Amino acid sequence: MRFTPQFLDDLRARLPVSEVVSKRVKLKKAGREWKGLSPFQQEKSPSFFVNDEKGFYHDFSSGKHGDIISFVMETDGCAFPEAVERLAQMAGVALPAATPDAARHEQRRKTLYDVMDLAAKFFADNLTSRFGAKARGYLADRQISPSVQLQFKMGYAPAERFALKEYLGAAGIPVDDMVEAGLLIGGEDIPVPYDRFRDRVMFPITDLRGRIIAFGGRALEKDVPAKYLNSPETPLFHKGDNLYNFPMARTAAHNGATLVVVEGYVDVIAMVGVGFQATVAPLGTALTENQLQLIWKMADEPILCFDGDKAGQKAAWRAAEMALPHLKPGKSLRFALLPEGQDPDDLARSGGRIAVEEVIGAAKSLSDLIWAQATLGGDFATPERRAALEARINELANGIRDDVVKKYYRQDLAERLRNTFNPQGNYGAGRGFGGGGSFRGGAGGGGFGGFGGKAGGGFGRPGAARSFTPGAAGRIEPRGRSAASAGSQTINRSPYQVVSPQLANSSIMRGQRSAISRREALIVQSLINHPWLLHDRLEEVAALELAHPEMHRLRAGIIAAFAHEHHHGDEVEQSEQMRSDLVKAGFSEQLQHVERAITTKDVWAAQPGAAREDVLSTWTQLVALHRQWHSLLRELKDAELALGEEASETNYGWLRDVKARLAEVDGIEALIEGFGESSGRFLRSS
Ligand code: UTP
Ligand code: MN
Repeated sequence: MRFTPQFLDDLRARLPVSEVVSKRVKLKKAGREWKGLSPFQQEKSPSFFVNDEKGFYHDFSSGKHGDIISFVMETDGCAFPEAVERLAQMAGVALPAATPDAARHEQRRKTLYDVMDLAAKFFADNLTSRFGAKARGYLADRQISPSVQLQFKMGYAPAERFALKEYLGAAGIPVDDMVEAGLLIGGEDIPVPYDRFRDRVMFPITDLRGRIIAFGGRALEKDVPAKYLNSPETPLFHKGDNLYNFPMARTAAHNGATLVVVEGYVDVIAMVGVGFQATVAPLGTALTENQLQLIWKMADEPILCFDGDKAGQKAAWRAAEMALPHLKPGKSLRFALLPEGQDPDDLARSGGRIAVEEVIGAAKSLSDLIWAQATLGGDFATPERRAALEARINELANGIRDDVVKKYYRQDLAERLRNTFNPQGNYGAGRGFGGGGSFRGGAGGGGFGGFGGKAGGGFGRPGAARSFTPGAAGRIEPRGRSAASAGSQTINRSPYQVVSPQLANSSIMRGQRSAISRREALIVQSLINHPWLLHDRLEEVAALELAHPEMHRLRAGIIAAFAHEHHHGDEVEQSEQMRSDLVKAGFSEQLQHVERAITTKDVWAAQPGAAREDVLSTWTQLVALHRQWHSLLRELKDAELALGEEASETNYGWLRDVKARLAEVDGIEALIEGFGESSGRFLRSS
């Protein structure tokens, strides 16, 4: 027992309850007591009482009663030892150390915390000084405002080799301490230790108590070996046992916020910026088992929202596999799918809170993910392949240690198998799964048979095939409102569908208000920067299928501005005129969204000032790809539906073929980025 009763009594004696409580609740004197509004329940008239003499609080509205320690545990959501530690700090009381050795260790750590604090101050000061101009510019470009920089205690490590070392040296810190804190690179073969972080934007990493224990540093220059450099393991910092933004997230999660796990520091910052305070990220490694346990302490079903690229999907799958053995009744993970090529930062910047909410709200369950992963791109036309799938799925379910969860997983997956291959019940594919015929009459009885089954065309997107109607200009528009809420109903009704991630992720399926695709943004940007394109292409422009409603409206604005415009001036002036007309018409927000959706600036021909030939050839490519993509998505949907009707080899072949063609379009699109660099043609010499 680390804390003796005497120690705790001493702590209670030193800290009046009202002092601790008043950090959270506004208290008014009421006779010998204090009173205020309940921190535990919404109320209009105060029913929360604090009695300093007796050392307790009592809340009449919720019936809660306790002392300073339980108050901190309740309101900060922390465990007993930590509540005690915080209170000790507040009271200025030293914590009892268990052994003299531990005491020395504690002392050592304490000085290292001070070193980290000083370093953070140095970095923060640099960021605001004249040396930080470049870093400030970088952060401004990434839309990380000065107040957010302050909130996350961000800083800048100058490009010199000894800047931090000299600063800390002047403050009397021994070089050994700087090395031990991971701030200098030293060692036997390094005669003169030097600053580890140079010319980087610095993200301090804190422990649960908000003490700085490490840094992540983002390179400003492109050609630096590591984009992010993190502190090494130190006595204070164990990468795998901590999370970025841990303290804020825990308090927020405790107060009911949805816990989200993203991959990067900037993603956390962007998520917090759109109201998801309970967002954390691992620290430069894949999510570890310890981190998973930390996360499960905060929430039953944290949502993993990893990057919408191959690496992100892989990371999600790794996390899923890692979590499986540790599942407990009620404890699971969910997975939010991001649009292709986007990370949470991109999504938050381009689509704001609503887009993020939508993606988070449509998160799928772990069992959905496992099923999707096991069947992804698979071809199960032969009994042997189906057997292999069944074996794989059994293996995954058997990895679950908790017997009850395992039982339900086996049932769930067996049912999916049965519904996929055996909608009429004449194959007996479910045989061999725990419980034998016990699934009869389950959800499978409803007849949601087959891939992309008849009940819905996509992953949790009900009736996708039917919910698109040709719009006035022959466009395809999503009908009805957000798929997110409707989608979750389908997940409940019919979770047994296989759909390609391209379709599930596509803007057509997401429809509505989520992120603007980069291609659409480039198309619109080209029109704004080169209004002359509209001269002989008005029809083409009007007929383009734009998935994002904002882009629809903006296009209408562009066409209107073009129609009313008296065309004069050179091309750059015309484009400026277009822009100011759009701003006057109230489109400034949409214009910003376009800018933000374009994550690379090197599509030369979309920029102002590009030569006409370049603009035209890029435009033609963009539009062709855009059309191809949309028609392929429609074909994909048809192929998946066909497969749902009839799981024949022909239909599998069709699906594979469509997917291959989609991948090809993706590949071609990636090439467009390169165009600008090969062409140096300017419209105007300047
Ligand atoms: P990403 O490469 O996904 O970067 O790395 P990001 O968060 O989108 O970064 P920006 O937007 O380009 O700034 C995600 C996380 O992986 C770790 C970091 O923790 C980063 O936040 N990482 C990445 C490294 O540790 N080292 C690297 O070189 C790259
Ligand atoms: Mn990013």
